[in-house]
Formats: sequence, structure tokens, C-alpha cells
Amino acid sequence: MIGAVVADRPASTQSDEGDASARADALLNRAAAAFRHAIAGAQPAAVGIDLGTATCVIVVVDADGGPAWVDARPTAAVRDGVVVDFFGARDATASLKADAEAALGIEITRAGVAYPPGVPTSEAAACRFVLESAGIDEVVLLDEVSAAQAALGLTDGVLVDVGGGSTGVGIFRGGELVRVDDRPGGGTHLDLILAGGLGVDVAEAERRKRTDSASYRGILKPGIQRIAASIAAMSPDAGDLPVHLAGGAVMVDGAREIIAGELGREVHTYPHSLFITPVGIARTLL
Ligand SMILES: Nc1ncnc2c1ncn2[C@@H]1O[C@H](COP(=O)(O)OP(=O)(O)OP(=O)(O)O)[C@@H](O)[C@H]1O
Ligand SMILES: [Mg+2]
Repeated sequence: MIGAVVADRPASTQSDEGDASARADALLNRAAAAFRHAIAGAQPAAVGIDLGTATCVIVVVDADGGPAWVDARPTAAVRDGVVVDFFGARDATASLKADAEAALGIEITRAGVAYPPGVPTSEAAACRFVLESAGIDEVVLLDEVSAAQAALGLTDGVLVDVGGGSTGVGIFRGGELVRVDDRPGGGTHLDLILAGGLGVDVAEAERRKRTDSASYRGILKPGIQRIAASIAAMSPDAGDLPVHLAGGAVMVDGAREIIAGELGREVHTYPHSLFITPVGIARTLL
């Protein structure tokens, strides 16, 4: 009786949520349009850099928070917020910075960078050093959940970021972050499952997953069910709240349906969800 439950909610809440969701969709579609393609006429105002486990992403936004430039590098230099290859991370950041500067005709001297919930501040500081050593003088450190929230603007909901290495959860009530948690498990684990199932190496599994995940839905399903179990375990008191999925790993075909089926609750996905956190990092600096 989902219809009955929805009908009980105040009409204003339903339309507010619909508006927020449509705004987030538009923002992420614009991020995809700005991928290695400077948006004509956009005036760069703030920069976010996401040092992810699978990908490092840069987003430059204009004063309205709309992406003006987006770029990414696959890296293995950072693992769950911990910098495991400092020079690799620095080089990826420097290259993202140089290309953004050339494309937009600007100099980047200030940027935000985010760390996952649960990472000690000593490790988070390493992310700051990466940006500083890449020539960015002023670095603002943010937590990933708050950054993702700056892109999605949830009032009441469970924000889940399923990245390459881990699944982070932030629970929002009345627009306030009331709980965060983070557990291993994400896209890299799906790669391992697919590699084992197909008898191919992990790099080939990653390629196939990104380009044709629909063909491997059966093999990937148990991995996605595990991610759903992890979300349930990290949000025990939030059964009443809808779940919003961020991060690249949920871009596999059928992820929303499988997770919604496991959790028995409303689950939202977004286009190009791997850009949610980096777009939010940049918007936080406005
Ligand atoms: N089109 C796609 N289809 C399926 N999976 C995808 C797609 N694009 C990216 N991914 C997966 O998303 C994951 C990376 O997501 P994301 O960029 O959010 O992670 P990250 O920020 O690097 O990692 P973390 O947040 O764990 O540090 C990878 O496992 C990648 O395979
Ligand atoms: Mg991430």
C-alpha cells in the first residue's frame, strides 16, 4: 500500500521532495555535460576535488552552483580516504588542476576536498597535503556525507554513498545530520565477484561492469544484496526514511530495484551519481 502511505504525507512535503530530486537530477546532468567540456559563459566560482578509491574527480562550479567543468582520473592512490600513494594522488590532482585551468582560463588557488566518515583527522590531513603539494594554497577539508548532501539537499532521508571501496551512510532528519557510518564494500567488491564468476581478471571485470552491467545482473546481484544488507545494518533506526543512492557503484543496472527489494523501502537513484560528492564539495565552498 505504498500509494496510501504517500497520500498520507502533506502535499507540500511531496512536492518539496519532488522539486529537490528534479534539481539534483538537473545538477548531475549538467555535471555530465561539463565532463571535459567547459560550459560556455559559466563563471568559475569554486572548486571541489574528490580523492576517491577508484577515481579522483574535479568539479568547478559557477556562482549558482552549476558545474562549469568536470574531469576525472582513475587512480589507486587513495583507499577509503587514506592516501596510500602520495605522489600518485598528487600527480592526479596536479593534472586535473592543470587541465581545468587551461580549459577555463583560470588559476586554481583554493579547493575543497572530502574524507569519508570514520577516517581519523590525521589521515584526512593527508588529503589536504595532496592538494597543497599539487599547488593549491587554500584547502578546505569536508566530510563526504555533508558534501553529498550539498548536492542533493535532503530534508529527511538516508544518504548512501557507494563508492569503489566503501559504503558510507548519513541519516538526515529535519535537514540535520543525525548519524554517520561507513563500512567496506563497494564497486571494487563487485569487480571481484564478476571476475570470479566470469574467470577474467579484475581490470576486465571492471571494464565489462561499466560498459554492460545489464548482461551480468545475475552474477552481480549477490554483491548488490550485500551492499543492501550493509545499508540496513548502518541505518537501524531509519526504516521510515527513503534511501538516496550516491556514488558510482550504484550505476550498475538494476541496483535500485535490488536494493529497494532487500530493504523494503523507497529508494532513489540519480543520473551520473558518481558526481554527487564532488559536485557537493565544490558547492560547499560557495
Ligand atoms: N557506468 C558505471 N556502471 C557501473 N559501475 C560504475 C560505472 N561508473 C563507475 N562505476 C563504478 O563506481 C565505482 C567508483 O565510484 P566512485 O567514483 O563514487 O568511487 P570513489 O569515490 O572513487 O570511491 P570511495 O568513495 O569508496 O573512496 C567503481 O567501482 C566503478 O567501477
Ligand atoms: Mg567516493
